[in-house]
Amino acid sequence: MLDTPNRVAVDAPSLSDAGANMTPTHRPDLLTVADAKAMSLGQMTDLFKDHINPGQLHFMKLLGFHKVKIETASGMYYTDQNGRKILDFFGGFGSLALGHNHPRIIKARKDFQDEDRHEIAIAFMSQYASALAKNLAAIAPGDLDMVFLGSSGSEAMEAAIKVAERAAGPKRPKIVYAANSFHGKTKGVLSLTDSELYRGEFQLTGNTVKVPFGDIDAIRAAFETDPKIGVIVLETIQGGGGIVEAPVAFWQQLRGLCDKHDVLWIADEVQCGMGRSGHFFAFEKAGVVPDVTALAKSLGAGKCAMAAMIASRKVYMKAYGTPKTAMIHAQATFGGIGEACVTAIEGLNVIYDEDLIGNAAQVGSYLIERLNELKDKYPQIIKDVRGSGFMVGLEFQDFSQTLPALLRPMVALLDDKLKGSLSGFVGAELLRDHDVLVAFTEYNRNVIRLEPPLICGREHVDAFITALDAVLGRGIVRIVRDFIGSQAKK
Ligand SMILES: Cc1ncc(COP(=O)(O)O)c(C=O)c1O
Repeated sequence: MLDTPNRVAVDAPSLSDAGANMTPTHRPDLLTVADAKAMSLGQMTDLFKDHINPGQLHFMKLLGFHKVKIETASGMYYTDQNGRKILDFFGGFGSLALGHNHPRIIKARKDFQDEDRHEIAIAFMSQYASALAKNLAAIAPGDLDMVFLGSSGSEAMEAAIKVAERAAGPKRPKIVYAANSFHGKTKGVLSLTDSELYRGEFQLTGNTVKVPFGDIDAIRAAFETDPKIGVIVLETIQGGGGIVEAPVAFWQQLRGLCDKHDVLWIADEVQCGMGRSGHFFAFEKAGVVPDVTALAKSLGAGKCAMAAMIASRKVYMKAYGTPKTAMIHAQATFGGIGEACVTAIEGLNVIYDEDLIGNAAQVGSYLIERLNELKDKYPQIIKDVRGSGFMVGLEFQDFSQTLPALLRPMVALLDDKLKGSLSGFVGAELLRDHDVLVAFTEYNRNVIRLEPPLICGREHVDAFITALDAVLGRGIVRIVRDFIGSQAKK
């Protein structure tokens, strides 16, 4: 029998009776949202040091980032505590395809809140998760139709590896991955992320085979000699490796080899996907389709955490297609959460409505053209310009041996991470003197990564090039001397 409100009132002690005998819970010294917004740069630095990552502050100081408190952000710009507008050519490592606070995204989110929509989608099915999954299946080529929603690139890549491992079967547990790869830092994908730093001294899984990126002969040799290989995982454009691409023919041959040896290909598009390369998925340039792919970063439209693993129906059904296997990797608590799905749905629509993929292709080519002009002007400083769309790498010459003997010991005093690399010095000076933000590269310290929002126009490219020209025009010795001088003043 269901309790009526009356029965509950008679049988159970009321909340206020129970509360009368209890001491009130001690309220810790909590900051409010208003406190957070009003926090000074000094307080923020102290709290970062005390509660987030004291060691990281050291790098921020080297680069001058510790002097900036961002107050607002809009389109291509951040605005700091002094009202300074900072041009964003970093783009959150590819997380800001739509720029900061796109008005359509803000509206979709506000509407969703005003309508009292629900968020958690574990008990019931979700119309928002269903619509997002349908959109991703409509965009993804071939039979990439089955979608798992999560909240980070690492989570999407974990899901990709799990679905592929199950579909490949227990007799083929080995996974091929590339040198200089980055697929995330969670415990599973760490074994496929080729970084001594991130691997630390963690125990890795032993079922991996490393090949050079873009080396089809090495992959062929691995497939032919080791029948236990069931999966290969590759970023379509390596981001952390320093914006490294493989030619179209590589991907076509890879598809052929995977088909021949029945190996599943996972394309990690967490950074290069969502239109950044001038195609929605970078692999589309080669006209081939992987078995599994992953998106994150810009899928959250710059406002929330959203990630997706997309598998071919065949692979998905083999892994989880029966009632017995369906729950093995069903969504986590925040997978397919309402407002994040709505944000991603709107974001995908904006990408097509505003032709941001076409813009990335066209204005991205213009950026590369302008950078090549600077390369011709400063051949002793710029070694290479490369990339596609708005995924561009600018590689500097290694100057550690050419620097005047007097400056070498000073540079050596600077942190290991910046030693011998002009990108740190140039990036710091772009921010300090020209209000421009660029990204550094984990594995190749000589490379600056340029991943502006896909809304970036030619005028933004021109402003960036003018700033870079002004910094490089000082020459290597002055850039380094200025940087050392600014460190001494701290
Ligand atoms: C190619 C690639 N894969 C996976 C990841 C991991 O994504 P997240 O940081 O959201 O876990 C990243 C993040 O930079 C990435 O660039």
